Amino acid sequence: MAWNMEIDRREELPIYLQICERFKSAIAAGHLRPGDRVPALRGLATQLNTARGTVELAYSILVNEGYLHMRGAAGTFVSSSLPPSATAARSRKSRDRALAPAQPPRADDIGNDAKPLRPGLPALDAFPRKVWSRLVAYRARSGDVAALTYPEPAGYGPLREHIATYVGLSRGVECSPEQVFVTNGYRATLELILRGLARPGDSAWFEEPGYLLARNFLIEAGLRLVPVRVDDEGLDVERGVALAPDARFAFVTPSHQSPLGVTLSLARRMKLLDWANRAGSWIVEDDYDSEFRYVGRPLPALKSLDRDDRVIYCGTFSKVLFPGLRLSYVVVPERAVARFGQLTRSTNAGSPYLLQAAVADFIAQGHFARHLKRMRALYDERRTLLADALVQAFGARLSVELPAGGMHLVAIFNAGRDGPVDDLAVAARAREAGFAVIGLSAWYLGKRTKRTLSGLVLGFANVGTAAEASRLARMLRRAFDG
Ligand SMILES: Cc1ncc(COP(=O)(O)O)c(C=O)c1O
Repeated sequence: MAWNMEIDRREELPIYLQICERFKSAIAAGHLRPGDRVPALRGLATQLNTARGTVELAYSILVNEGYLHMRGAAGTFVSSSLPPSATAARSRKSRDRALAPAQPPRADDIGNDAKPLRPGLPALDAFPRKVWSRLVAYRARSGDVAALTYPEPAGYGPLREHIATYVGLSRGVECSPEQVFVTNGYRATLELILRGLARPGDSAWFEEPGYLLARNFLIEAGLRLVPVRVDDEGLDVERGVALAPDARFAFVTPSHQSPLGVTLSLARRMKLLDWANRAGSWIVEDDYDSEFRYVGRPLPALKSLDRDDRVIYCGTFSKVLFPGLRLSYVVVPERAVARFGQLTRSTNAGSPYLLQAAVADFIAQGHFARHLKRMRALYDERRTLLADALVQAFGARLSVELPAGGMHLVAIFNAGRDGPVDDLAVAARAREAGFAVIGLSAWYLGKRTKRTLSGLVLGFANVGTAAEASRLARMLRRAFDG
Protein backbone atom coordinates (compact mmCIF):
# COMPACT_ATOMS: atom_id res chain seq x y z
CA MET A 1 0.00 0.00 0.00
CA ALA A 2 1.28 3.43 -0.84
CA TRP A 3 1.31 5.42 2.39
CA ASN A 4 -0.65 8.40 1.33
CA MET A 5 -3.10 8.14 4.19
CA GLU A 6 -4.92 11.37 4.83
CA ILE A 7 -6.73 12.68 7.82
CA ASP A 8 -9.19 15.50 7.99
CA ARG A 9 -8.70 17.91 10.85
CA ARG A 10 -12.17 19.32 10.38
CA GLU A 11 -13.82 15.96 10.79
CA GLU A 12 -15.69 15.40 14.05
CA LEU A 13 -13.91 12.07 14.52
CA PRO A 14 -10.69 12.43 16.57
CA ILE A 15 -7.52 11.79 14.58
CA TYR A 16 -6.65 8.51 16.28
CA LEU A 17 -10.07 7.12 15.33
CA GLN A 18 -9.65 8.38 11.77
CA ILE A 19 -6.35 6.48 11.60
CA CYS A 20 -8.09 3.32 12.85
CA GLU A 21 -10.81 3.78 10.22
CA ARG A 22 -8.30 4.22 7.41
CA PHE A 23 -6.48 1.03 8.40
CA LYS A 24 -9.66 -0.98 8.69
CA SER A 25 -10.86 0.25 5.31
CA ALA A 26 -7.51 -0.53 3.69
CA ILE A 27 -7.57 -4.04 5.16
CA ALA A 28 -11.19 -4.57 4.14
CA ALA A 29 -10.44 -3.41 0.61
CA GLY A 30 -7.43 -5.70 0.34
CA HIS A 31 -4.90 -2.87 0.02
CA LEU A 32 -3.28 -4.18 3.17
CA ARG A 33 -2.87 -7.94 3.49
CA PRO A 34 -2.06 -10.19 6.42
CA GLY A 35 1.65 -10.05 7.13
CA ASP A 36 2.15 -6.61 5.52
CA ARG A 37 4.33 -4.34 7.51
CA VAL A 38 2.78 -1.00 8.50
CA PRO A 39 4.73 2.25 8.97
CA ALA A 40 6.64 2.93 12.15
CA LEU A 41 4.92 5.20 14.65
CA ARG A 42 7.26 8.07 14.15
CA GLY A 43 7.13 7.86 10.36
CA LEU A 44 3.34 7.92 10.20
CA ALA A 45 3.13 10.66 12.84
CA THR A 46 5.48 12.83 10.76
CA GLN A 47 3.59 12.13 7.57
CA LEU A 48 0.25 13.01 9.16
CA ASN A 49 1.74 15.93 11.02
CA THR A 50 0.36 14.66 14.27
CA ALA A 51 1.77 13.60 17.63
CA ARG A 52 3.46 10.23 17.90
CA GLY A 53 1.13 9.50 20.86
CA THR A 54 -1.90 9.85 18.55
CA VAL A 55 -0.60 7.17 16.19
CA GLU A 56 0.46 5.06 19.15
CA LEU A 57 -3.08 5.19 20.52
CA ALA A 58 -4.54 4.20 17.13
CA TYR A 59 -2.11 1.29 16.79
CA SER A 60 -2.85 0.02 20.28
CA ILE A 61 -6.59 0.03 19.48
CA LEU A 62 -5.94 -1.83 16.23
CA VAL A 63 -3.76 -4.37 18.04
CA ASN A 64 -6.45 -4.84 20.70
CA GLU A 65 -9.09 -5.38 18.07
CA GLY A 66 -6.93 -7.93 16.27
CA TYR A 67 -6.09 -5.96 13.13
CA LEU A 68 -2.42 -5.38 13.84
CA HIS A 69 0.26 -7.36 15.52
CA MET A 70 3.42 -5.89 17.08
CA ARG A 71 6.66 -7.81 16.78
CA GLY A 72 8.97 -5.69 18.88
CA ALA A 73 11.95 -4.30 16.99
CA ALA A 74 10.88 -6.09 13.80
CA GLY A 75 7.94 -3.70 13.50
CA THR A 76 4.15 -3.78 13.36
CA PHE A 77 2.30 -6.00 10.89
CA VAL A 78 -1.21 -6.71 9.70
CA SER A 79 -2.42 -9.73 11.68
CA SER A 80 -2.35 -13.06 9.96
CA SER A 81 -5.60 -14.00 11.71
CA LEU A 82 -7.80 -11.00 11.09
CA PRO A 83 -11.10 -10.59 12.95
CA PRO A 84 -14.09 -11.79 10.85
CA SER A 85 -15.42 -8.24 10.49
CA ALA A 86 -12.18 -7.18 8.79
CA THR A 87 -12.61 -8.95 5.50
CA ALA A 88 -16.40 -9.16 5.32
CA ALA A 89 -16.86 -5.81 3.69
CA ARG A 90 -14.63 -5.84 0.66
CA SER A 91 -17.11 -3.70 -1.09
CA ARG A 92 -16.32 -1.04 -3.58
CA LYS A 93 -17.53 1.50 -1.08
CA SER A 94 -14.97 0.56 1.51
CA ARG A 95 -12.25 0.50 -1.14
CA ASP A 96 -13.14 4.02 -2.12
CA ARG A 97 -13.18 5.07 1.50
CA ALA A 98 -9.66 3.80 1.97
CA LEU A 99 -8.44 5.90 -0.91
CA ALA A 100 -10.36 9.04 -0.18
CA PRO A 101 -11.27 9.67 3.44
CA ALA A 102 -15.00 9.91 4.08
CA GLN A 103 -15.95 13.54 4.54
CA PRO A 104 -19.49 14.02 5.73
CA PRO A 105 -20.30 17.72 5.54
CA ARG A 106 -19.85 19.26 8.95
CA ALA A 107 -22.43 21.48 10.53
CA ASP A 108 -19.73 24.07 11.21
CA ASP A 109 -17.78 23.88 7.99
CA ILE A 110 -18.01 27.34 6.49
CA GLY A 111 -14.58 27.50 4.92
CA ASN A 112 -12.37 30.52 5.32
CA ASP A 113 -13.47 33.04 2.74
CA ALA A 114 -15.43 36.25 3.08
CA LYS A 115 -18.92 34.96 2.25
CA PRO A 116 -21.87 37.01 3.52
CA LEU A 117 -22.80 36.93 7.22
CA ARG A 118 -19.67 35.07 8.30
CA PRO A 119 -19.57 35.35 12.09
CA GLY A 120 -16.53 37.08 13.48
CA LEU A 121 -15.26 38.68 10.29
CA PRO A 122 -14.59 42.41 10.80
CA ALA A 123 -15.67 45.02 8.25
CA LEU A 124 -13.15 44.45 5.50
CA ASP A 125 -14.42 47.48 3.56
CA ALA A 126 -13.62 49.78 6.47
CA PHE A 127 -10.09 48.70 7.24
CA PRO A 128 -7.63 51.54 6.49
CA ARG A 129 -5.74 49.63 3.84
CA LYS A 130 -3.71 52.59 2.57
CA VAL A 131 -2.31 53.36 5.98
CA TRP A 132 -1.65 49.70 6.57
CA SER A 133 0.16 49.13 3.29
CA ARG A 134 2.26 52.24 3.87
CA LEU A 135 3.34 50.89 7.26
CA VAL A 136 4.12 47.42 5.92
CA ALA A 137 6.01 48.89 2.95
CA TYR A 138 8.01 51.15 5.24
CA ARG A 139 9.14 48.19 7.32
CA ALA A 140 9.83 46.07 4.26
CA ARG A 141 11.98 48.79 2.68
CA SER A 142 13.87 49.60 5.85
CA GLY A 143 16.49 46.95 5.18
CA ASP A 144 16.23 45.90 8.79
CA VAL A 145 17.94 42.51 9.17
CA ALA A 146 15.39 41.62 11.85
CA ALA A 147 12.95 41.09 8.98
CA LEU A 148 15.17 38.42 7.49
CA THR A 149 16.27 36.42 10.46
CA TYR A 150 14.20 34.26 12.85
CA PRO A 151 11.65 36.28 14.78
CA GLU A 152 11.75 36.49 18.56
CA PRO A 153 9.85 33.36 19.74
CA ALA A 154 7.83 35.19 22.39
CA GLY A 155 6.95 38.05 20.05
CA TYR A 156 8.41 41.34 18.82
CA GLY A 157 9.46 43.32 21.91
CA PRO A 158 7.84 46.70 21.07
CA LEU A 159 4.58 44.95 20.16
CA ARG A 160 4.58 43.10 23.49
CA GLU A 161 5.01 46.46 25.19
CA HIS A 162 2.14 48.02 23.27
CA ILE A 163 -0.10 45.08 24.09
CA ALA A 164 0.75 45.27 27.81
CA THR A 165 -0.11 48.98 27.83
CA TYR A 166 -3.27 48.47 25.79
CA VAL A 167 -4.74 45.65 27.89
CA GLY A 168 -3.86 47.59 31.03
CA LEU A 169 -5.63 50.75 29.91
CA SER A 170 -8.59 49.29 28.08
CA ARG A 171 -9.22 46.00 29.92
CA GLY A 172 -7.81 46.56 33.40
CA VAL A 173 -5.30 43.76 32.87
CA GLU A 174 -2.14 44.76 34.70
CA CYS A 175 0.86 42.92 33.35
CA SER A 176 4.44 43.37 32.28
CA PRO A 177 5.51 42.95 28.62
CA GLU A 178 7.33 39.77 29.70
CA GLN A 179 3.97 38.21 30.49
CA VAL A 180 2.72 38.87 26.95
CA PHE A 181 3.34 36.22 24.29
CA VAL A 182 2.42 36.88 20.68
CA THR A 183 0.80 33.89 18.97
CA ASN A 184 -0.66 33.01 15.58
CA GLY A 185 -4.37 32.97 16.42
CA TYR A 186 -6.45 31.77 19.33
CA ARG A 187 -5.96 28.09 18.64
CA ALA A 188 -2.21 28.59 18.60
CA THR A 189 -2.65 30.27 21.98
CA LEU A 190 -4.58 27.27 23.22
CA GLU A 191 -1.91 24.94 21.95
CA LEU A 192 0.72 26.87 23.86
CA ILE A 193 -1.40 26.82 27.02
CA LEU A 194 -1.98 23.08 26.77
CA ARG A 195 1.67 22.37 26.11
CA GLY A 196 2.60 24.51 29.06
CA LEU A 197 0.03 23.49 31.63
CA ALA A 198 -2.04 20.44 30.64
CA ARG A 199 -1.46 16.90 31.86
CA PRO A 200 -2.67 13.69 30.25
CA GLY A 201 -6.28 12.94 31.11
CA ASP A 202 -7.11 16.52 32.16
CA SER A 203 -10.70 17.63 32.02
CA ALA A 204 -11.95 21.14 31.37
CA TRP A 205 -15.16 23.11 31.65
CA PHE A 206 -16.39 24.35 28.34
CA GLU A 207 -19.30 26.72 27.81
CA GLU A 208 -22.47 25.07 26.50
CA PRO A 209 -23.08 26.37 23.90
CA GLY A 210 -19.53 27.53 23.25
CA TYR A 211 -17.03 28.55 20.59
CA LEU A 212 -17.07 25.49 18.40
CA LEU A 213 -13.71 25.94 16.70
CA ALA A 214 -11.90 26.05 20.04
CA ARG A 215 -14.02 23.14 21.22
CA ASN A 216 -13.05 20.96 18.26
CA PHE A 217 -9.40 21.86 18.72
CA LEU A 218 -9.40 21.04 22.44
CA ILE A 219 -11.10 17.69 21.89
CA GLU A 220 -8.59 16.84 19.21
CA ALA A 221 -5.81 17.81 21.59
CA GLY A 222 -7.08 15.14 23.99
CA LEU A 223 -8.75 17.28 26.65
CA ARG A 224 -11.92 15.85 28.22
CA LEU A 225 -14.43 18.66 27.85
CA VAL A 226 -17.26 18.97 30.34
CA PRO A 227 -20.07 21.08 28.87
CA VAL A 228 -21.30 23.61 31.43
CA ARG A 229 -24.47 25.43 30.49
CA VAL A 230 -24.68 29.14 29.93
CA ASP A 231 -27.70 31.17 31.04
CA ASP A 232 -28.51 34.87 31.23
CA GLU A 233 -25.65 35.42 33.67
CA GLY A 234 -23.12 33.50 31.61
CA LEU A 235 -21.44 30.25 32.65
CA ASP A 236 -23.30 28.44 35.44
CA VAL A 237 -20.33 28.12 37.78
CA GLU A 238 -22.16 26.11 40.43
CA ARG A 239 -23.06 23.55 37.83
CA GLY A 240 -19.45 23.35 36.73
CA VAL A 241 -18.37 22.75 40.31
CA ALA A 242 -21.01 20.04 40.67
CA LEU A 243 -20.05 18.33 37.40
CA ALA A 244 -16.28 18.51 37.52
CA PRO A 245 -14.87 20.09 40.68
CA ASP A 246 -11.32 19.01 39.81
CA ALA A 247 -11.27 20.21 36.21
CA ARG A 248 -7.87 21.65 35.38
CA PHE A 249 -9.20 24.38 33.10
CA ALA A 250 -12.28 26.47 32.49
CA PHE A 251 -12.52 28.04 29.04
CA VAL A 252 -14.72 31.11 29.14
CA THR A 253 -15.75 34.16 27.14
CA PRO A 254 -16.81 36.42 30.04
CA SER A 255 -17.21 39.76 28.25
CA HIS A 256 -19.32 38.56 25.37
CA GLN A 257 -20.21 34.91 25.52
CA SER A 258 -19.60 33.05 22.28
CA PRO A 259 -22.12 32.58 20.75
CA LEU A 260 -25.01 33.80 22.96
CA GLY A 261 -23.55 37.23 23.69
CA VAL A 262 -24.35 37.39 27.43
CA THR A 263 -21.93 38.87 29.95
CA LEU A 264 -20.66 36.84 32.89
CA SER A 265 -22.18 38.48 35.98
CA LEU A 266 -19.98 39.85 38.74
CA ALA A 267 -21.27 37.26 41.22
CA ARG A 268 -20.36 34.43 38.84
CA ARG A 269 -16.96 35.98 38.15
CA MET A 270 -16.18 35.91 41.85
CA LYS A 271 -17.39 32.32 42.17
CA LEU A 272 -15.33 31.22 39.20
CA LEU A 273 -12.17 32.83 40.55
CA ASP A 274 -12.83 31.35 43.95
CA TRP A 275 -13.23 27.85 42.49
CA ALA A 276 -10.04 28.16 40.42
CA ASN A 277 -8.11 29.29 43.45
CA ARG A 278 -9.39 26.48 45.65
CA ALA A 279 -9.02 23.77 43.00
CA GLY A 280 -5.66 25.05 41.70
CA SER A 281 -7.22 25.23 38.21
CA TRP A 282 -6.65 27.62 35.33
CA ILE A 283 -9.25 29.91 33.81
CA VAL A 284 -8.66 30.66 30.16
CA GLU A 285 -10.34 33.98 29.41
CA ASP A 286 -11.04 34.44 25.71
CA ASP A 287 -11.56 38.19 25.33
CA TYR A 288 -11.98 38.04 21.57
CA ASP A 289 -14.22 41.00 20.74
CA SER A 290 -14.80 42.99 23.92
CA GLU A 291 -13.59 46.18 22.25
CA PHE A 292 -16.98 46.48 20.61
CA ARG A 293 -19.64 47.40 23.09
CA TYR A 294 -22.71 49.42 22.09
CA VAL A 295 -24.60 49.61 25.37
CA GLY A 296 -22.87 51.07 28.41
CA ARG A 297 -19.17 50.81 28.98
CA PRO A 298 -17.16 47.64 28.32
CA LEU A 299 -16.77 45.63 31.53
CA PRO A 300 -13.18 45.17 32.65
CA ALA A 301 -11.75 41.76 31.91
CA LEU A 302 -12.18 38.90 34.37
CA LYS A 303 -8.39 38.96 34.63
CA SER A 304 -8.62 42.39 36.28
CA LEU A 305 -10.26 40.73 39.33
CA ASP A 306 -7.76 37.88 39.48
CA ARG A 307 -5.88 38.28 42.75
CA ASP A 308 -4.39 34.77 42.70
CA ASP A 309 -3.08 34.80 39.14
CA ARG A 310 -5.24 31.88 37.99
CA VAL A 311 -6.51 33.57 34.80
CA ILE A 312 -4.76 33.28 31.48
CA TYR A 313 -5.91 36.20 29.40
CA CYS A 314 -6.23 35.77 25.61
CA GLY A 315 -6.73 38.49 23.02
CA THR A 316 -6.58 38.62 19.25
CA PHE A 317 -6.02 41.14 16.45
CA SER A 318 -8.43 39.20 14.24
CA LYS A 319 -11.45 41.32 15.15
CA VAL A 320 -9.86 44.70 15.80
CA LEU A 321 -7.69 44.54 12.66
CA PHE A 322 -8.24 41.52 10.38
CA PRO A 323 -7.92 37.74 10.74
CA GLY A 324 -5.53 37.28 7.80
CA LEU A 325 -2.85 38.77 10.05
CA ARG A 326 -2.90 35.66 12.26
CA LEU A 327 -1.72 37.65 15.25
CA SER A 328 -3.06 37.17 18.72
CA TYR A 329 -1.63 37.22 22.23
CA VAL A 330 -1.80 35.69 25.63
CA VAL A 331 -0.99 37.21 29.01
CA VAL A 332 0.32 34.45 31.23
CA PRO A 333 0.59 34.45 35.03
CA GLU A 334 3.95 35.61 36.33
CA ARG A 335 4.82 32.20 37.68
CA ALA A 336 4.31 30.67 34.22
CA VAL A 337 6.48 33.18 32.31
CA ALA A 338 9.64 31.08 32.41
CA ARG A 339 7.78 27.95 31.31
CA PHE A 340 6.10 29.71 28.37
CA GLY A 341 9.36 31.39 27.42
CA GLN A 342 11.09 28.04 27.28
CA LEU A 343 8.22 26.52 25.30
CA THR A 344 8.17 29.26 22.69
CA ARG A 345 11.92 28.85 22.28
CA SER A 346 11.85 25.08 22.02
CA THR A 347 9.06 25.12 19.44
CA ASN A 348 10.69 28.09 17.72
CA ALA A 349 7.35 29.87 17.85
CA GLY A 350 7.33 33.42 16.60
CA SER A 351 5.25 35.39 14.16
CA PRO A 352 6.56 37.20 11.10
CA TYR A 353 8.52 40.27 12.11
CA LEU A 354 7.16 42.46 9.30
CA LEU A 355 3.57 42.09 10.39
CA GLN A 356 4.30 42.47 14.09
CA ALA A 357 6.37 45.57 13.46
CA ALA A 358 3.66 47.06 11.24
CA VAL A 359 1.03 46.42 13.93
CA ALA A 360 3.32 48.02 16.53
CA ASP A 361 3.63 51.10 14.29
CA PHE A 362 -0.13 51.10 13.66
CA ILE A 363 -0.69 51.30 17.41
CA ALA A 364 2.15 53.75 18.13
CA GLN A 365 0.97 56.21 15.48
CA GLY A 366 -2.59 56.31 16.82
CA HIS A 367 -4.25 54.48 13.92
CA PHE A 368 -5.37 51.64 16.17
CA ALA A 369 -7.32 53.83 18.60
CA ARG A 370 -8.87 55.76 15.68
CA HIS A 371 -9.84 52.58 13.87
CA LEU A 372 -11.47 51.10 16.97
CA LYS A 373 -13.47 54.26 17.54
CA ARG A 374 -14.70 54.27 13.95
CA MET A 375 -15.55 50.57 14.01
CA ARG A 376 -17.57 50.91 17.21
CA ALA A 377 -19.81 53.48 15.55
CA LEU A 378 -20.00 51.53 12.29
CA TYR A 379 -20.88 48.20 13.91
CA ASP A 380 -23.45 49.88 16.10
CA GLU A 381 -25.21 50.90 12.87
CA ARG A 382 -24.68 47.65 11.04
CA ARG A 383 -26.06 45.45 13.81
CA THR A 384 -29.31 47.41 13.55
CA LEU A 385 -29.41 47.11 9.76
CA LEU A 386 -29.25 43.34 9.88
CA ALA A 387 -31.54 42.89 12.88
CA ASP A 388 -34.23 45.10 11.29
CA ALA A 389 -33.97 43.33 7.95
CA LEU A 390 -34.32 39.91 9.62
CA VAL A 391 -37.42 41.01 11.50
CA GLN A 392 -38.89 42.26 8.20
CA ALA A 393 -38.11 39.07 6.32
CA PHE A 394 -39.01 36.51 8.99
CA GLY A 395 -41.71 38.13 11.10
CA ALA A 396 -42.77 35.89 14.00
CA ARG A 397 -40.65 32.96 12.82
CA LEU A 398 -37.53 34.48 14.29
CA SER A 399 -36.53 36.32 17.47
CA VAL A 400 -33.59 38.66 17.19
CA GLU A 401 -32.15 40.74 19.98
CA LEU A 402 -29.85 43.61 19.22
CA PRO A 403 -26.51 42.43 20.54
CA ALA A 404 -24.98 44.64 23.23
CA GLY A 405 -21.52 44.01 21.84
CA GLY A 406 -19.39 42.10 19.38
CA MET A 407 -19.78 41.48 15.68
CA HIS A 408 -22.41 38.79 15.45
CA LEU A 409 -26.02 38.37 16.39
CA VAL A 410 -27.96 35.30 17.32
CA ALA A 411 -31.29 34.79 15.57
CA ILE A 412 -33.49 32.23 17.33
CA PHE A 413 -36.10 30.28 15.36
CA ASN A 414 -39.46 30.15 17.07
CA ALA A 415 -40.98 26.69 16.94
CA GLY A 416 -43.64 26.42 14.24
CA ARG A 417 -46.74 24.23 14.00
CA ASP A 418 -44.53 21.27 13.06
CA GLY A 419 -42.34 21.70 16.12
CA PRO A 420 -38.79 23.07 16.48
CA VAL A 421 -37.01 24.26 13.36
CA ASP A 422 -34.06 22.14 12.18
CA ASP A 423 -31.49 24.92 12.22
CA LEU A 424 -28.71 22.71 10.83
CA ALA A 425 -30.80 22.00 7.75
CA VAL A 426 -31.57 25.71 7.33
CA ALA A 427 -27.89 26.57 7.75
CA ALA A 428 -26.90 23.92 5.21
CA ARG A 429 -29.35 25.38 2.67
CA ALA A 430 -28.08 28.87 3.44
CA ARG A 431 -24.50 27.72 2.83
CA GLU A 432 -25.59 26.28 -0.51
CA ALA A 433 -27.03 29.69 -1.30
CA GLY A 434 -23.60 31.22 -0.65
CA PHE A 435 -23.75 32.26 3.01
CA ALA A 436 -21.21 31.45 5.70
CA VAL A 437 -23.59 30.72 8.55
CA ILE A 438 -23.70 28.07 11.23
CA GLY A 439 -26.76 26.62 12.92
CA LEU A 440 -26.88 27.52 16.61
CA SER A 441 -27.38 23.92 17.75
CA ALA A 442 -23.96 23.04 16.27
CA TRP A 443 -22.41 25.15 19.04
CA TYR A 444 -23.58 22.65 21.65
CA LEU A 445 -21.32 19.79 22.63
CA GLY A 446 -23.85 17.71 24.56
CA LYS A 447 -26.95 15.97 23.27
CA ARG A 448 -29.84 18.07 22.08
CA THR A 449 -32.28 18.76 24.90
CA LYS A 450 -35.29 21.00 25.34
CA ARG A 451 -32.88 23.76 26.31
CA THR A 452 -30.92 23.53 23.06
CA LEU A 453 -31.65 26.66 21.09
CA SER A 454 -32.33 26.48 17.38
CA GLY A 455 -31.21 29.43 15.31
CA LEU A 456 -28.39 31.01 13.34
CA VAL A 457 -25.22 32.84 14.31
CA LEU A 458 -24.81 35.72 11.87
CA GLY A 459 -21.97 38.18 11.41
CA PHE A 460 -23.20 41.71 10.73
CA ALA A 461 -19.92 43.61 10.39
CA ASN A 462 -19.84 43.44 6.58
CA VAL A 463 -23.46 44.35 5.94
CA GLY A 464 -22.93 47.80 4.44
CA THR A 465 -26.38 49.20 3.65
CA ALA A 466 -30.06 48.70 4.47
CA ALA A 467 -30.64 47.49 0.90
CA GLU A 468 -27.94 44.86 1.23
CA ALA A 469 -29.26 43.78 4.63
CA SER A 470 -32.72 43.42 3.17
CA ARG A 471 -31.47 41.43 0.16
CA LEU A 472 -29.48 39.06 2.39
CA ALA A 473 -32.36 38.61 4.82
CA ARG A 474 -34.74 37.76 1.98
CA MET A 475 -32.28 35.21 0.59
CA LEU A 476 -31.94 33.69 4.05
CA ARG A 477 -35.69 33.50 4.31
CA ARG A 478 -35.77 31.49 1.06
CA ALA A 479 -33.21 29.09 2.53
CA PHE A 480 -35.38 28.86 5.63
CA ASP A 481 -38.46 28.01 3.59
CA GLY A 482 -36.46 25.39 1.69
C1 LIG B 1 -14.97 33.07 20.49
C2 LIG B 1 -13.77 33.42 19.68
N1 LIG B 1 -12.57 33.39 20.26
C3 LIG B 1 -11.45 33.71 19.60
C4 LIG B 1 -11.51 34.05 18.28
C5 LIG B 1 -10.23 34.47 17.60
O1 LIG B 1 -9.66 33.51 16.88
P1 LIG B 1 -8.33 33.86 16.05
O2 LIG B 1 -7.44 34.67 16.93
O3 LIG B 1 -7.76 32.52 15.80
O4 LIG B 1 -8.74 34.54 14.81
C6 LIG B 1 -12.72 34.06 17.61
C7 LIG B 1 -12.80 34.36 16.19
O5 LIG B 1 -13.80 34.24 15.53
C8 LIG B 1 -13.88 33.74 18.33
O6 LIG B 1 -15.10 33.77 17.76
